[in-house]
Amino acid sequence: MDKKVNVNTIRAMKNRQRIVMLTAYDYPSSLYADRSGAQIILVGDSLAQVVLGYDNTLSITVEEMLHHTRAAGRGCKRAFLVADMPFGSYHESPVQAFQNACRFLKETPAESVKLEGGVKMAETIRFLVDRAVPVMGHIGLTPQSFHQMGGYRVQGRGEEGLRTLMEDARAVQEAGAYSIVLEGIPARAAGLITSELSIPTIGIGAGLQCDGQVLVTNDLLGLYDQFTPKFVKKYAEIGKAMEEAFKKFYEEVTDGKFPGEEHSYE
Ligand code: KIV
Repeated sequence: MDKKVNVNTIRAMKNRQRIVMLTAYDYPSSLYADRSGAQIILVGDSLAQVVLGYDNTLSITVEEMLHHTRAAGRGCKRAFLVADMPFGSYHESPVQAFQNACRFLKETPAESVKLEGGVKMAETIRFLVDRAVPVMGHIGLTPQSFHQMGGYRVQGRGEEGLRTLMEDARAVQEAGAYSIVLEGIPARAAGLITSELSIPTIGIGAGLQCDGQVLVTNDLLGLYDQFTPKFVKKYAEIGKAMEEAFKKFYEEVTDGKFPGEEHSYE
């Protein structure tokens, strides 16, 4: 096994090596993500949609995130494990954020939390970092704010949009985050932010100039059929493979072909 990844490994990768982050939500997805060589495994709140079948990420609770982070933690041997803080678990006050972040660090193997928001969340990020909670930021298209954004819309278009994004990115860095996710923003904006910041940027729908890339695992596996954003590349069709295997099993049971002798005891 390669050396265990920690927060310093990730910081040091800036301008040296592209960072690979994958989401995982349970033991097998985490195990295979870990074996791929990815440096970071994120238990994203995308869990709400792609695994639990909710319409959006707002409904997922701290308890549900803790449960899945524990499961993913069992498969994560080498990568750095990050847990998403769900909507409402950090917005009330820095103290509330710290109490919930502590639950992730104490009750699961997570080594860091991620939270959405720029300038408005800077005080909270600083509060957590000052109390030994490593924080990954997340700006741009922040899915927990989709009601406020009027849908899942690309953020940061135009000069004004770029200025706002840049302010958010700087605020997150100055607050002490060790890295930042840039989601759903123009590639040029992501490139400018990446050269401006000294912490690594990890892009999703943010072009090639970021320091690293992440995709929602179930999207890249072809295991989520509700909606596929433009930025998703499907590296497999696991959903179709599952359907075919289940149909084959159905047929063989119905036709009396399974179990055969080789699957039966004397
Ligand atoms: O919830 C999630 O999976 C995420 C990634 C898309 C960055 O936040």
